[in-house]
Amino acid sequence: MKVGSWEVVQFQSKGDDRGELISLENFKEVPFETKRVYYIIKTKAGVTRGLHAHRHLEQVLIAIAGSCKIKVENGQSTETYVLNDCKTGLRISNLVWREMSEFSPDCVLLVLASEVYDPSDYIRDRKIFLQESAAFYQDSIS
Ligand code: TYD
Repeated sequence: MKVGSWEVVQFQSKGDDRGELISLENFKEVPFETKRVYYIIKTKAGVTRGLHAHRHLEQVLIAIAGSCKIKVENGQSTETYVLNDCKTGLRISNLVWREMSEFSPDCVLLVLASEVYDPSDYIRDRKIFLQESAAFYQDSIS
């Protein structure tokens, strides 16, 4: 994915008279090799999670149950999505600030990640994120 980008992707469902099945493969629906999977559950009312960006990590987020809101920002533009469909994924590249909020009590937010957990990959200070992304765009046009 392009640095500082995101995209919504619709997954194909393999449905038959028994129900439906959704399958995700690396380098197909998931644009990287998945090295880690985690899921966020039982999020309390009023909580905002995320509030960080990653220097290298890419992710795909899917609300496999319930719903939540995701705000993404790359220092130049921002967008807010409601994820409420297990057949919809939000792909997020590196250098994207994200904030997740308005979780329904039953929300299961599944996250597929391109790297193992590495706290040093996090940018948790918004000012530093804005500086690092501005520096990235400056370098990429000069
Ligand atoms: P945190 O980064 O606060 O989650 P969010 O970005 O959704 O607000 O993570 C919560 C805790 O879980 C924190 O102690 C770090 C730990 N953690 C792991 O051990 N492995 C992981 O893959 C992730 C995402 C978090």
